[in-house]
Amino acid sequence: MLPSRASADPAQPAGIADPVRLKRGVFGTASLGSKCAPDIARQVLRQAIASGFHQFDTAPFYGAGHAERLLGELGDEGMRVSTKFGSPRPSRLRFMAVRVLRGRRPGDLVPPPALLVSRDGEFDCAAQRRPPAQLSASMAALSKCAQGFLFAHSPPRFPGAAAVSAWSDLARSSGYVLGVSGPRNEDMEAWLEVAPADACFQLHLDTLESLTDPVLDRLARRTVWIHGIFSPPTGAGPTHAADRQKLAHRWAADLAQAAFVVTSTRPEGVARAGAFVRELEG
Ligand SMILES: NC(=O)c1ccc[n+]([C@@H]2O[C@H](COP(=O)([O-])OP(=O)(O)OC[C@H]3O[C@@H](n4cnc5c(N)ncnc54)[C@H](OP(=O)(O)O)[C@@H]3O)[C@@H](O)[C@H]2O)c1
Repeated sequence: MLPSRASADPAQPAGIADPVRLKRGVFGTASLGSKCAPDIARQVLRQAIASGFHQFDTAPFYGAGHAERLLGELGDEGMRVSTKFGSPRPSRLRFMAVRVLRGRRPGDLVPPPALLVSRDGEFDCAAQRRPPAQLSASMAALSKCAQGFLFAHSPPRFPGAAAVSAWSDLARSSGYVLGVSGPRNEDMEAWLEVAPADACFQLHLDTLESLTDPVLDRLARRTVWIHGIFSPPTGAGPTHAADRQKLAHRWAADLAQAAFVVTSTRPEGVARAGAFVRELEG
């Protein structure tokens, strides 16, 4: 087991002010946007708020704007919503299309696979170059919610220091703090070198497991959002839910500013996800 990187006086993740709410929990909305009927999705979000979640993770890509619209409908100043710009890299889109189709259940709203697959590399790179247009649509949808992080959504490559600086300025001038979600392992050092000190790194649990110690030591001073606690592993991590939960506990002890992005597509599952985060908070 690695020695703890947590400091004695852990700084709270950005955007957390109210101690009665879940401090380590972020409620994810990817499957709400793409797989849930709107009424169920609304119930799930209400249940998430009732369970103590006040930070939400979304993206324009989640259900082609649907997740942002749902959050915006419910939104009030008590909800802090982080969103993204750009879109996942093409390889991930194909993977998601397959997962969406395999995960289909009666009543699910499934985006046509053509929509996912046709959003290929061209869209991906163009969207990364055009964050202002995408951001204004997100901000309009989320106008009633407090702003959290604005993540670059799975950038296909490290965009260079000048782009990161421009994205950070854009995020800040719009009331957000820049983040990077799903960076490639090989780009982590470059991101850590240039990302502003308050930037958030959103990483899959298995990615975290595969990073080198020097990168992890630098991440320990950063806000880190970890997802993939319950979803099937991508290859590197354990397949057993109990083992994955143990890893989450270890990272909660190890990274002072870690928060966990969890989700459920069922109102009754949300309380379970909330209970898990409460356990992590100790
Ligand atoms: N940036 C990125 O690249 C990226 C990628 C993926 C995800 N994310 C973010 O992370 C969020 C979470 O996604 P994820 O893939 O990591 O999902 P997850 O939290 O690992 O959850 C996957 C599924 O596990 C089940 N589950 C939830 N809580 C559980 C518990 N306490 N015990 C056992 N099973 C539980 C739920 O199934 P039921 O629905 O059946 O309850 C849920 O849908 C997304 O919504 C999104 O916001 C970001």
